Amino acid sequence: MTMIGLTVNTRAIKASVEPRTHLADFLRDSLNLTGTHLGCEHGVCGACTLLLDGMPARSCITYAVACDGARVTTIEGLDDDEITTELRAAFTREHALQCGYCTPGMLIAARDLVLRLPTSDEHHIRVGLSGNLCRCTGYVGIVRAVRTVIDQRRERGVMPISGGGRQTLGPVGSGNATNPAVSDIAAKPATKAETRDEDTGTMAIPDFTPAKVFKDQFTVAYPPDRVFDMLGDVAQVAACLPGASLTGVPAPERVEGMIRVKLGPISADFRGAARIERVLETLSGRIVGMGSDQRSRSLTQGEICYHLVPIEQGAATRVELSIGYSLKGMLAQIARDGLVRDLAARLTADFARNLDRHLSGIPVDATAEGSQNLNGVSLLFSLLRERALKNIRRLLKR
Ligand code: FES
Ligand code: FES
Repeated sequence: MTMIGLTVNTRAIKASVEPRTHLADFLRDSLNLTGTHLGCEHGVCGACTLLLDGMPARSCITYAVACDGARVTTIEGLDDDEITTELRAAFTREHALQCGYCTPGMLIAARDLVLRLPTSDEHHIRVGLSGNLCRCTGYVGIVRAVRTVIDQRRERGVMPISGGGRQTLGPVGSGNATNPAVSDIAAKPATKAETRDEDTGTMAIPDFTPAKVFKDQFTVAYPPDRVFDMLGDVAQVAACLPGASLTGVPAPERVEGMIRVKLGPISADFRGAARIERVLETLSGRIVGMGSDQRSRSLTQGEICYHLVPIEQGAATRVELSIGYSLKGMLAQIARDGLVRDLAARLTADFARNLDRHLSGIPVDATAEGSQNLNGVSLLFSLLRERALKNIRRLLKR
């Protein structure tokens, strides 16, 4: 993690970010500025366009760490901007949007054209907007909206600004490239997180600071001491965890195993080890693990802290969880924060169900959907289905 300081929409921000995090993810996931949209994530569609030191830039191909010291303006920061206000009115008047997905990026690119084009020449506007794709409206209304704003401003005597205010040559944001923290990252070879314990020759499991942490909980219809005993039986816990299997003989304080994850087009077999800590007095525990997948060259570190709380006069247990993780490599590119969170929630629900069956003496159903793999695609579809149903129910209540 690297500490950066930047100004976002005039607010000074200090944050610790992973070197691989792009600016759009940082703004959306850490600062909740979701007006910056993501389409292609390859610098092609322009949906993620924002202003970096006053210049339009693609936030999906800009690392957040490279913006240390920079001034970032997203569409939210242009609420009171004069040109953007005129453009918004013109977009509405000229029917220049339908779904609006491209609109934040389109407005920011259009603002740059209004700033610097001397006349509303259609060819120049079309060339200037060629890096922003609109999939549903088409460009006639958009171009007309930009033309009218340029015409009205020039008629009012507002002159164009040559270069739109550009003061330095080079890529947008390159004025901040002297930051030692950023050049350190570029110069440093990738370190191997996996090290071996010198005494035992086994994989050492270091403590780490998770990049993401979230809370979850579930209830089990058995008393806390029984649940605590069960959670101490590593082989049984692995049997209840979808996609997990042991690769070595487990010890009470250490386990080696594998978990299979399928997320989008990538399927990964994370092989690794976990350290187990348990405190009987507080009915709590901690599992710290790390694993890597050779095929996708992905590496993950995770930490699960649990605390058992007696409920229903001690007849049942609420299991409170804190789940933290860091993910690196190819899988990290597609594992959006919300998707991982939803997957973990589903994994927790499956685990809770299996735990309940196990405590009831019913064999865990190994053929049940999701019990073999942590399958991102099927889970994603079921999540989307659930969300759609929720929205329909909400609409019907109105
Ligand atoms: Fe950045 Fe498409 S999401 S250019
Ligand atoms: Fe829908 Fe442009 S308005 S993509």
